[in-house]
Amino acid sequence: MNGFANAAFLRAAASPADLPPEGPPEIAFAGRSNVGKSSAINALLGRRGLARTSKTPGRTQTLNFYELGEHARLVDLPGYGFARVPLELRAQWRSLVGGYLASRATLCAVVLVMDARHPLTPLDLQLVEWLQASPRVAPFIVLLAKSDKLTRAAQAETLRAVRSRLPSATVELFSSITRQGVAEARDLLQHVLQAGPPNKKPPVKGI
Ligand code: GTP
Ligand code: MG
Repeated sequence: MNGFANAAFLRAAASPADLPPEGPPEIAFAGRSNVGKSSAINALLGRRGLARTSKTPGRTQTLNFYELGEHARLVDLPGYGFARVPLELRAQWRSLVGGYLASRATLCAVVLVMDARHPLTPLDLQLVEWLQASPRVAPFIVLLAKSDKLTRAAQAETLRAVRSRLPSATVELFSSITRQGVAEARDLLQHVLQAGPPNKKPPVKGI
């Protein structure tokens, strides 16, 4: 599939009623504010300005849907853990993003983007626990973003530490600047999109 080269913005959803109807398989990008979720989407799609990025945390406030042709979608989620976001917005985050993650039948995987310099914050671990406890466990892929900010030795050490803390996840270093990990992440995403959502697998024959 070279849908990654043909991406287009589909819709921004500010409330559950704005969500586009379920269609092709989706992969959602979650993580703390400012870790580089929107930049990762742009790097994967090879489109510099498609997803809006910013130095100011809290740039992405809506669920932004990108279509990869007719076959798949990537979803840029608002970040969490931004202290200046008022409390009522945090409650809105929980209901909008939490509701989406818990109930979207076409969700194939969650990409958890963490800052390679500060991985596994308490909020990241809360999201991991929540995803693992949710009834339809979507596999998750961890991207250790901004890896360009670390030395090679620190990259290797961070990768080892995060892999050992999250043994069931696929964990990769990633940089939208050096493009480290971009090709590998594309392959991983194509793989999960082809496999489809976890609860939409064909039933086992004979049962
Ligand atoms: P919110 O939408 O606020 O949740 O942020 P986000 O996670 O989408 O982050 P965004 O992609 O907007 O990037 C935040 C800042 O980090 C911007 O200034 C980016 O240029 C920078 N950035 C993103 N990815 C990288 C990277 O791989 N390396 C470096 N050095 N900077 C990056
Ligand atoms: Mg963003």
